[in-house]
Amino acid sequence: MAFNITVNGKTHSVNVDGDTPLLWVLRDVLGMTGTKFGCGMALCGACTVHIDGIASRSCITPIENIGNSPVTTIEAIGATTAGAKIQKAWLDREVVQCGYCQSGQIMSASALLASNPHPTDSHINNAMSGNICRCGTYVRIREAIKQAAQSNGQGG
Ligand code: FES
Ligand code: FES
Repeated sequence: MAFNITVNGKTHSVNVDGDTPLLWVLRDVLGMTGTKFGCGMALCGACTVHIDGIASRSCITPIENIGNSPVTTIEAIGATTAGAKIQKAWLDREVVQCGYCQSGQIMSASALLASNPHPTDSHINNAMSGNICRCGTYVRIREAIKQAAQSNGQGG
């Protein structure tokens, strides 16, 4: 069945079963391999993308549920204000170790920063608790989110 989905500002027509997870449409049909497969059960966060600006697990999101909602992936998150700040902070803090979880981490962190320019520790914990990092980069992730939030200035 044909579905139109808008990814990173571009609309694609894809011919897949309606229950095909968005993750596999991105990776196998559209060739966008920045979004990773970890668990396939919404447990690890590696597959996180934004759907309508909300951090979402693409491994459990059937393409038929997306409709006209815009999808943003790691390939384009740097073009958003929050995403650019998060990516800069990630580089400054040298967050990445093996890297496998990191596109999902960045997508969750940028969704947090876009909706909450000055997150508290508990906001960060809530937003990031579903993103697992086997390399244990959690401390640097927290520091980088705080750095990115500081670049938003005070108040607001
Ligand atoms: S692959 Fe989607 S949450 Fe793990
Ligand atoms: S950087 Fe290796 S799993 Fe997170």
